[in-house]
Order: sequence, then structure tokens, then C-alpha cells
Amino acid sequence: MAVRSASEGILSDAKRAEREELIGMLTKAYWMEIETVMSYIANSINPDGVRAQEIIESLQGDIQEELGHAQQYAQRIKELYGVVPGSLDFTAEQSYLQPPEHQTDIVHVIKGVIEAETGAIEHYNRIIEFTDGLDFVTQDMVIAILRDEEGHRRLFEGYLREYEVEGLA
Ligand SMILES: [Fe+2]
Ligand SMILES: [Fe+2]
Repeated sequence: MAVRSASEGILSDAKRAEREELIGMLTKAYWMEIETVMSYIANSINPDGVRAQEIIESLQGDIQEELGHAQQYAQRIKELYGVVPGSLDFTAEQSYLQPPEHQTDIVHVIKGVIEAETGAIEHYNRIIEFTDGLDFVTQDMVIAILRDEEGHRRLFEGYLREYEVEGLA
């Protein structure tokens, strides 16, 4: 007996085109998370100085969360009949999170994190809009991830504010 495919929803044959477009968006999100993990590892270890400690500890915590996001995106790609890409497909984009000239330059790191979180927030909002009425499961997952990224950005905006008050940013 042939296994029948779902007649309704994102897994149905009728939704193949939308599903493939969504897999493309999820793949981009997956790579964004993977690159963020790389950038946050470097930026949680490189910084020097007394004031670097808070940033280091904060980024150490975020690494695990971003890794969890990458795994969730990968899992959802598979559930949608996609294939999680191999590393050769990866292209780096986070120019703003490269190591600064001086490792005491904490403002550079804070601004880089805010830029990375902002990019994620923008892309995840697009996925949430795209999946509205189309794939509530993916939408639900991405809404939860979006909240994490909004929290990350808000935390680092607070760090930046402290430097701005002192005229250092
Ligand atoms: Fe993330
Ligand atoms: Fe984040």
C-alpha cells in the first residue's frame, strides 16, 4: 500500500513550492546561528580587561542558546523533507564581529553583537510572516527563538548605554 502524504498543511503535495521556499529561509537561519556560535566563542575569549568580564560571561551563556537554535532549525528542515546542508555550503557574513584591533575594545564587541541579533530578528520576523496561515509549527518555533534574540539584543543595548553615558561609545 502506498503511503499517502498529508492532504493538509505544509507537508502536503500542494504546498511543495512554499515548503521549498521556507526550507531556504530556515537554511539561512541555520547558517546565521552557526556563524553566531563561531563569533560568540571568539568574542567570549578574546576580550581583555576588568569590564570585559560581564560581556564574556554573557556571551558564554548565549553560545549554548544559539547552538540550540541551530539544532532546532536543522530539525525543522528535516521535518519539512529538506536536508541539513554540509559545511562546504557555508558562507560567512558577520564582518562586524571580527576581532577588534585592541582586545580591550569592548564597545566593538557590544555593537557587533547588537548587529548580529538585529539581523536575526529581521530574518526571523520574515519567517514568522511567511509561515502565517501556512505552517503554524514552524511559526511557533521561530516566535520562541525570536524572543530569545530580542532578549539578547536588549541586554547588549543596556551594556552599550552604560558606555554611551560615559561618552565612550
Ligand atoms: Fe539564535
Ligand atoms: Fe541571539
